[in-house]
Amino acid sequence: MNRVRLYDKTFRTFIPYDDIQKAIDRVAERINADFKDCTDIPVLLCVLNGSILFTAELMKRLAFNCEIVSTKLSSYTGTQSTGEVRQLMGLTADITGKRVIIVEDIVDSGNTIVELQKILAEKGAAKSYICTMLLKPDACRKDLHPEYVGLEIPNDFIVGFGLDYNELGRNLKDIYILDEE
Ligand code: IMP
Ligand code: MG
Repeated sequence: MNRVRLYDKTFRTFIPYDDIQKAIDRVAERINADFKDCTDIPVLLCVLNGSILFTAELMKRLAFNCEIVSTKLSSYTGTQSTGEVRQLMGLTADITGKRVIIVEDIVDSGNTIVELQKILAEKGAAKSYICTMLLKPDACRKDLHPEYVGLEIPNDFIVGFGLDYNELGRNLKDIYILDEE
């Protein structure tokens, strides 16, 4: 399947499943190297809904004891960032004093990550790290330096592997890009 239709838009294959898996392998290797001897229990923070598939793939590769906490944020309608980040569901557990690895599907403008880091600081996290499957460097307007990045992509709208267009497309195995034609 190399073209999909979601509502009024057509998308074509952009990052095949195997390349996504390889990128996640590399990210997991680096996190394992950094955390393997930890004596604390770090938290993986799954940012719903987009990060569900990435978090699942990442966590099964991690070789140290860790916990999963979720929260839900929203900043997109259609194919555009609204610039306003809303927290639709708070953190599902207490993270006071813990090291938190934010697991994001994609860092675009950076607004969501900045909001999350603020929330984590307010809730008393010991430290936070950014782990994102995808990064759009040309879209990022914040001074962010994500510790773990799967793949860098151009400033285009994509769906699949957790990412959506108005909630559709999250179940696609591959990542697709908006087909302008
Ligand atoms: P930011 O706050 O602009 O960095 O955007 C972060 C959130 O917007 C991500 O967690 C995604 O849920 C969503 N998002 C950003 N770019 C895309 C895209 O190309 N397709 C689908 N969702 C996106
Ligand atoms: Mg997201």
